Formats: sequence, C-alpha cells, structure tokens
Amino acid sequence: MTLPKRVTIFEMGARDGLQNEKALIATDDKVRYIDLLSESGLQWIEATSFVSPKAIPQLADAAEVFARIRKAPGVRYPVLVPNLRGYTRAREAGADAIAVFTAASENFTKRNINMTIDESLETFRDVVRAAQRDKVWVRGYVSTAFGSPFGDAVSAQMVVDVCVKLMELGCDELSIGDTIGVGVPSQVATLVPLLARVIPLDRIALHFHDTRGTALANVYAGLEHGVAKFDSSSGGLGGCPYAPGATGNVGTEDVLYMLHQMGIETGVDLAKVRAASRFIAGVIDHTLTSKAYQAMEAASPV
Ligand code: HMG
Ligand code: MG
Repeated sequence: MTLPKRVTIFEMGARDGLQNEKALIATDDKVRYIDLLSESGLQWIEATSFVSPKAIPQLADAAEVFARIRKAPGVRYPVLVPNLRGYTRAREAGADAIAVFTAASENFTKRNINMTIDESLETFRDVVRAAQRDKVWVRGYVSTAFGSPFGDAVSAQMVVDVCVKLMELGCDELSIGDTIGVGVPSQVATLVPLLARVIPLDRIALHFHDTRGTALANVYAGLEHGVAKFDSSSGGLGGCPYAPGATGNVGTEDVLYMLHQMGIETGVDLAKVRAASRFIAGVIDHTLTSKAYQAMEAASPV
C-alpha cells in the first residue's frame, strides 16, 4: 500500500459551510473569511454559489462576495452554478471556475434542484458547453453517493454511471459527496476502484460530511485507494439545507493534522486555516466542530 505523498485540499467553508448557517452572515465577514483562507496556502477555495436566492438566501450576495474577495495568485475560486442563469451571473461576477451539481439519488436531486438526474445532466450540458467555450474550469459534484436522506437506495454502480455522464459532458474534475455523512470506509473501498476503471483518479475528489464521525476514516480509505484530492471545511462548517440531518464537512484542520502527521504534504498552513476558522467562529452563533481546531483552541486560546 502506497499513500499519496502530496494531497490537494479543496476548501468548502465559504460555500458548503456558510450556505448552511441559520443566521445571515454579513458580506464583509464572508469576504474577510475568504481572504484569511487565501493566506493559508490553500489553492482551491469554493467561494460562493450562484443558485436561486430563494433556495439559498444565505448566499444571495454571491456577486458582491466574489467581486470583493482578494484573488490570491495561484488560488482558484470556483463557484457553484445550477443552470445557465447561474453561469451567466457567475461570469458577470468574474468567475473562471465553476461547479455543477447533481446526485446519485433521484429523491435528493428533486428536492435540491427540482430536476431529475437526467434533467440536471441536460441542464449542465449547456452550462459545460458555455464553460468550455469560455475556457472556464468545471467541477461536477455527485451528491448522496453513499446514501440518500430520503430512503431511496444508492449503489456504487449508480454513482459510477452519473460520474461517467458528467465526464462525458466535459467536466474537468468530479467530487463524490457523502452529503449526509453516512458513508463508511468499506464503501469508499468499493466505490473508488470501480471509478478508477473508467475515470483517471487524478480527476476525482472525495467530499465527506462528518455527521456520524466517519469522515476522517473515509478520507484515509480514499488515500489508500489512490485519491489525492479531498474537500473539507475550515472549522468543520457545512451541510445542505435540502438534506435533512446533514451536518458539517470534515474539518480542514482535522484533515491537515492527520496528513501532516503522516508526512503527507499539502502546502497548507494549519495555523492560518485555524486563524480563518477563529474569525468565522466569532461571527456565527455556534461552536465549530473540527476536533483539531478545538484542540488547538484548548491548548492556546487567545
Ligand atoms: P426552480 O424553482 O425549479 O427553477 O429551482 P426556476 O427556473 O423555476 O426558478 C425559480 C426562481 O429562481 C425564478 O425566480 C428564477 O428566475 C430564479 P422567480 O421567477 O420565482 O422570481 N432562478 C435563479 N436566480 C438566480 N440564480 C439562478 C437562478 N435559477 C433560477 N441560478 C433551481 C431550480 C436549481 C434554480 C433551485 O432549486 C436552486 O437554486 N437550487 C439550489 C439548491 C442548493 O444550492 N443546494 C445546496 C448546494 S448542493 C450541496 O450542498 C451538496 C454539495 O456540497 C456536495 C455534497 O455534499 O454532496 C455540492
Ligand atoms: Mg457538501
């Protein structure tokens, strides 16, 4: 077993994190949070989403946030878009990297974006075509890949089928999501080799939510099977309002702590991610769940 020597972290706090906060966060605070994350060495920071403001009021200020964040050299700031309308808004705001999103569960897709999986793929066909024309980088999310919140069964083969269709549309990268944090390492060990048969693993990221405490174990299972890109959220923020029971993404601090202690490089400064988390902790109305963040705070509170 050879683990990757270097891993890329795709930071989710500003989008997956802030979309799920009950209180509305001020635009100034979102900008400050992203600017702090930009100082940490992270190369991928999902900044916001250009979805319907009725669906996600928390990110209704996407254009202003995107315009005002400091774009650090070498850092990409993808934004989530559900349709051509979102794509146009994202481009007008200056985005050069986007993410489209569907799922392996029909029930979840319907609740989340009011489309069937096939309809979502048809919608994204036009979005990805426009992105390719504009030389915009595209990520495709496949949510509920390890289980649906609505009781419909999801198999590894269903996930692979959606992934193949997204790659055929022309996505540059896929992120496979455990939206509700039900996945376990044996599922990762089944799914990743199936995916690797049809899609190069350097185009696959894994996206774990830590609802049942299995996210870091799932990251390790991903590493064992050759995945070297993981989504995580500073402080462990995150969740999807359309997935009942979904809580935060695996904490960026937790992933960084584990990887660095194992001698795996990320190029990300853990202390600087913690500084960004500490800032946002002062803005939101609950404590952050990342264990590594909590341990650092307990060891050296300010
Ligand atoms: P709909 O109601 O079926 O579509 O929503 P519609 O076309 O009828 O539009 C409804 C209204 O929204 C209209 O306005 C549109 O103009 C407007 P009205 O006429 O009522 O005033 N609209 C838009 N406005 C701004 N930007 C747009 C846009 N599109 C339509 N892009 C739709 C369908 C997809 C729009 C809606 O369901 C939606 O925006 N859903 C987004 C849900 C979402 O963001 N969920 C969280 C992200 S997914 C996630 O977190 C999982 C992930 O992290 C991975 C994982 O964990 O697995 C990625
Ligand atoms: Mg998510």
